This record gives sequence, structure tokens and C-alpha cells, in this order.
Amino acid sequence: MCGIVGYVGPDNGGKALDVVMEGLSRLEYRGYDSAGVAVLAGDHVETRKRAGKLANLTAALGDSPLPASGTGIGHTRWATHGGPTDQNAHPHRGGTDGKLVLIHNGIIENFHALRAELLEDGVVFESETDTEVAAHLVARAYATTHDLTEAMRQVVQVLEGAFTLLAVHADQPGVVVGARRNSPLVVGLGEGENFLGSDVAAFIGSTREALELEQDQIVTITPERVSVVGFDGRPAAGKPYHVDWDAAAAEKGGFDTFMEKEIHDQPHAVADTLLGRTDEDGHLVMDELRISEDDLRAVDKVVIVACGTASYAGMVAKYAIERWTRIPCEVELAHEFRYRDPVVDGNTLVVSISQSGETMDTLMAVKHAHDLGARTLSICNTHGATIPRESDAVLYTHAGPEIAVASTKAFLAQITACYILGLYLAQLRGGVFADQAPAVMKELQQVPDKIQTVIDSMDRVREIARFMADTRAVLFLGRHVGFPVAMEGALKLKELAYIHAEGFAAGELKHGPIALIEPGQPVFVIVPTPDSEHGLHGKVVSNIQEIRARGARTLVIAEEGDEAVVPFADEVIRVPATPPLLAPLLTTVPLQVFALELATAKGLDVDQPRNLAKSVTVE
Ligand code: M6R
Repeated sequence: MCGIVGYVGPDNGGKALDVVMEGLSRLEYRGYDSAGVAVLAGDHVETRKRAGKLANLTAALGDSPLPASGTGIGHTRWATHGGPTDQNAHPHRGGTDGKLVLIHNGIIENFHALRAELLEDGVVFESETDTEVAAHLVARAYATTHDLTEAMRQVVQVLEGAFTLLAVHADQPGVVVGARRNSPLVVGLGEGENFLGSDVAAFIGSTREALELEQDQIVTITPERVSVVGFDGRPAAGKPYHVDWDAAAAEKGGFDTFMEKEIHDQPHAVADTLLGRTDEDGHLVMDELRISEDDLRAVDKVVIVACGTASYAGMVAKYAIERWTRIPCEVELAHEFRYRDPVVDGNTLVVSISQSGETMDTLMAVKHAHDLGARTLSICNTHGATIPRESDAVLYTHAGPEIAVASTKAFLAQITACYILGLYLAQLRGGVFADQAPAVMKELQQVPDKIQTVIDSMDRVREIARFMADTRAVLFLGRHVGFPVAMEGALKLKELAYIHAEGFAAGELKHGPIALIEPGQPVFVIVPTPDSEHGLHGKVVSNIQEIRARGARTLVIAEEGDEAVVPFADEVIRVPATPPLLAPLLTTVPLQVFALELATAKGLDVDQPRNLAKSVTVE
């Protein structure tokens, strides 16, 4: 949601516009519906902004070019307050002299009251946004302080909500000032130039050296200097780090779409997430965890908080963690956890799962858990993001940058990290599964090759998807760990192909959803391995028969050699054999490919589906 770029470099040569536009295009994946840029131009700041995609802004820049400049900011906006129009697009001007402009990510919750005060003072607003309020406030503060950093510092004191703000002022060329509270902002460190971005993708084409900021900090960049102060005015220092992926990792690498590339990245995503987690005897080592072994041994409840796809990874984790550790494990949507009265205490481990590490609902849940005294552990794919920083411990997934809005490789990496966590807790606590951890890790090591096998055998799935391009509804059924896979399959189809899709626990079928079955209704069924305990496999085979008898078209995902499903399946999609708990790492893949292909057949933009944002940074 909202992408932010800031740049300062040498004035002669003036490449601000190019750098900012490149940054914006790398941030497109975050989701947006309008875009704008501003550059310093002598005694004023010039802006161009347009509703719609970056192409519209590029066209506007063609019609009315901006001057070469060494200082610029840019923004992709995902509309919250005010529709996606040219006028509401950022940057917004503050004051009337055309010298100050500002961009913003987040929501200023008290903007109504602030706007009313400004209106009383005679300020004229040009947009419906909350952002314009901040622009006018900073301009007003600058009029008395004549210092952009101090003006920003004064204004953040009166703002409520979550925000990243970036401002430039014509009287301070070569300076961009940023402020952040509960919203992402990172610094890119160059030679004689510096950068600001919502995430490192904004400047990865120029530098891989970055600086992490804390909450409630203001950063001022010039070509030669980066200085940080707290909202309280005290000097602070960011934490430098090296970005370990390069620009190519955030490019399509020969694939038509990022999503396709990221599906193909999955064997690596899982392998890299497993890397370095075991000693030579196969026992888990977790040097990066910042919670002591004693504290982890004392954990008597695990609560997983996450949203969307990440929450389905959490649902898979519940089966594994309870099985291996015997610790009760709950999974809750982060936005629900936050607004009830959850029962957690010092012995509760609250595990958040988030690809971006910036999802506001998840961040708020983590803070709430922290306030209630729980231990917090973040499973995250983005180094230095807010959620891991606000957590007691972090377990990074190593999926690499995920650009497509629909999560694919991050999901498999999250599940993998959950297994690692479950096995580590089991190992620490002794118990029956402690000794089995090395064997499970060994099985996990084989999974990347098996994922590759699935990816290599998807031709028929693509054919089925193309054939089904006009389908109006698809159902997904699974049991046990197949249930969250069914949910994920349905979510992928909804968000990419805009088709009504529902995932159900197969056992729930007879309690209502079976009424949806009519002749020709396509139903994907995720069949557990024949080795599953409690006769689970047979029960799902019965479910397939029940829906087939009512005319459903059954698309069955089953293990190689599982012949029991064949008589009842219109299509059988095979995955290699793997232990039951690990199966989601394989059975999810055909559903991703199906959604991708069907959406492509409908001519839709699979990387940036309508209305969606990659990082949901507002509640
Ligand atoms: O960055 P996060 O993992 O916290 O994001 C959570 C969800 O917003 C995300 O998984 C969303 O559901 C995806 N669009 C699913 O493909």
C-alpha cells in the first residue's frame, strides 16, 4: 500500500526524477491507484500527479517535463481518504507559496479535527485527503522554524494514527525529511547521494546498503549525510544493514509475470529457509532467536496471529505444533485478536506471520500481545521490517523479495518456518517428538526437489484452467492440513481471477456446503496421503463420492500411486509422496498454477489484481 521514494544527490546532472520514477516502478507491486512526483526547481517545487497507473504519470511528464534536479520525492497512492483522482494523488502542497510539498503513507486518524482548525484559519484545501492537513501543518511550522526537520518534529506531535511522511522545501535544496510511526520507511545509503523508500526495492537499483529506522523517528537526508532524531528531538542512530538480494531478484527473470516467477522460485524459497537450521546431527539450532531456551520451555500456549495467506500458513502450523509439542496452539486473524480480550500471559508465545512485516493489523496484534505480557515471535520475510523489530524474537523466511500481490513463495516459506519452530520447541521440551526432529528435518530437505517435480508437471493443470476461464464458482475441499490448503486455493482464485471461490473443511460438507453442489460444479479436493492416521484418506475419498454423486466435477489432488481416488475423479493431479504434515508444501502448488493460468486466460493483471495492495499498512 502506498509506495514512497525520496532522493537527494548532486544538483548538476540532476537525476532526481529518473531515480524517483525507477523507485516508484519497483514499488508498483505494493498496490496503488494514482501516482505523483515532485522535484525542487529553484525557488519552488514542481509536481506532476495522475490517477491510475504509472504510465499515466509518465505520459503527463512527457507532455509537461519536469526540470533536472538533485532533490525529489515520489509516491504511489492506494486511496483511503478521497477517491483515486489527480487531485487526491500525492504530493500535496502546504501553504500558498508553492515551496513545500509532502507525501504520506498511512492514516492520520485525527485529520477531521485538524482540518477543521486549519479551515477556521482560512486554509484552502485542494483535496479530500488526510495528507493535505499534514502538508499545511508542516508549512506553517516551517514559517516559524525555518528548518524542515524541526517543522516535521513539531507536527508529528499532534498527529494521531500511523504514518510515514516525506517533505521537501524549496528553501532547503538538497534535503529530504522523513518521519515514521507504525508505517515503513528505510534509508538507502549511496556515495554522494542518499535515498528513502517504503522498502529497499525503492533504491535496490542504486545501492544495497541500508539503514533501519526505529518507530517515532525523523530522518533527514542530504547528498552527504543522514541524520536521525527521535520525535522527542533526541539524536538517534539507525541500524545499518546490507541487503542480501540484488535488483535482479526483484525482476521477472524471463517469466511473463512476477507471480509465475515466484511460483518457480518456490523450491529455493523452501530450501533457503531450511538452510543453516541444523547441526551435523540434524538437531535444530536457532541462534537468531532472541528468547531464551528457558523461556521457550515455559511456554504453555502458542497463539498465531496473521492475515490472509499468512493466516493459512498459521493454520497448517497449528496441526504441526500441537502434534510435535503437545502445546495448545490457537490461530487467529490478527484484526480479530486485537479487538477482543484474548487470554494470554507471560507463558504465551504469540507468533506473528507476515511476509511484509508491515501489515498493520498484524503489527497491532503483536503490540497488543506485548502489552499483555506475552512473548512475541515474528516469522517474517522482510529484513528490518516493523513487525520483527517490535517482536521479542524473529525467525526470518528466506523466500527473497515477493513482488506479485498474491502470495506464493512466501506462503511455502512461512509454512517451512512454522515447521522449524514446531520442531525446535519439540526438541527443547523433550517429549516424544524431540528425537524425531532430525528425521522430520531430513524429510523437509527433500521437499524442494518434490516441489520442482510438481512445478514441472503442471501442463494439464494449465489446460484445465484455460478450459475453465468462464467458470463462475469453484469450491475447494480439504481435511486436516488440506483444509488450510483449500482456503488458500480459494483465496488465490478470488484475488487473481475474481471468481467466487470457497474453501471448506471436507467434514463440514454435509453440514451445509453440499447444498451448493449442482451438476457441473467444479470442486478441487485435496486428498491426504493414504498413510494418514485415523482413516482420514478414506473419509476424503468418501467425500469425493458424495459430491460426484450430485454431479460435481471433481478435480482431485492426490499422491502418486493413490489409486483409490481414480474412479471418482474427473481429473487427478499428482504430487510426490511426502509425510502427511508436510503435504501442504506440495498440494498448494497446483492451486497457485491453476489460479494464475485462469486469471491469465481471462486477460487479467495477475501481479496487481484490482483493489489489492501487497502490504496492507492501514487497519
Ligand atoms: O505481508 P503479510 O504476509 O502480512 O500479508 C498478509 C496478507 O495481506 C496477504 O497474505 C494477502 O492475503 C495476500 N494478498 C494473499 O495472496
